[in-house]
Amino acid sequence: MKVCIIGASGKLGQYMVEHALARGYEVVGVCRPESVGKLDRFAGRMTVLPGRTDDRDVVAKAVRGCDGVLTVLVPWGVNDYASGTAKAVLDHAEPDARLVFSCGWHITRDGKDRYAWPLRLLLALFGPIGRLFRFADLDDQVRATNLVFASDRRWTVVRGSDLEEGESQGLPVWSQHVGDPVLASNLTRRIDFALFMVEALTDDRLVQEAPAIVGRETTSARAHASGAARALPATS
Ligand SMILES: NC(=O)c1ccc[n+]([C@@H]2O[C@H](COP(=O)([O-])OP(=O)(O)OC[C@H]3O[C@@H](n4cnc5c(N)ncnc54)[C@H](OP(=O)(O)O)[C@@H]3O)[C@@H](O)[C@H]2O)c1
Repeated sequence: MKVCIIGASGKLGQYMVEHALARGYEVVGVCRPESVGKLDRFAGRMTVLPGRTDDRDVVAKAVRGCDGVLTVLVPWGVNDYASGTAKAVLDHAEPDARLVFSCGWHITRDGKDRYAWPLRLLLALFGPIGRLFRFADLDDQVRATNLVFASDRRWTVVRGSDLEEGESQGLPVWSQHVGDPVLASNLTRRIDFALFMVEALTDDRLVQEAPAIVGRETTSARAHASGAARALPATS
């Protein structure tokens, strides 16, 4: 299996590289030219194409022949970086490729997510401040995922909770809507977010789904382990 990781040099991206290589996948990564050095430890084990993730020419070259594309959607700047990235991937990936995108819980597919006040407050503050100082545009990530949701591609949009570093606890559990009790703990290890992204490449049950994930060892996930929550089979 050949996979492309768009945004490979970030924290999530590097974990995805590790998981993909561990599975024996051939890995191509795209990252900003100034960040290529962050991937030095993978030298000789992956191909790195320097470029902004919304550079359509670089993305077109990177995804050619790939069975799967893992894309880190980030709302940096105010020039449609996330939506440009999503569009480049949707336009250029192979017709049957599995396309897996990352974002946060604030993304909603059907408007049925129910958010606790801390997240609502964070979004209310971060959105205008990010735009005012021109360092981020949360609405751009919304536009990006709306492009994906409207596509007839074989996509999955993985919506991450708050993240922490630490050893893997295994594959996160997921639910369709933020506000579902299983997700109440709102915490996932970043390494396991990456694991879920890579696992989604080969899980057709996740095609055209927007799972909201939470760590499988969190209180809420454990409490609902035998309930309505959906857990993907653990990987070996
Ligand atoms: N952080 C959280 O708490 C959280 C929670 C839920 C979901 N998520 C989602 O998880 C994914 C990864 O987020 P992360 O926070 O963990 O960060 P991350 O993995 O470190 O990724 C950050 C990415 O943004 C790029 N980037 C940084 N500054 C940039 C700039 N000015 N212009 C263009 N690209 C820039 C980085 O590229 P370089 O390597 O080139 O700098 C890297 O690819 C995102 O989709 C995010 O929405 C994050």
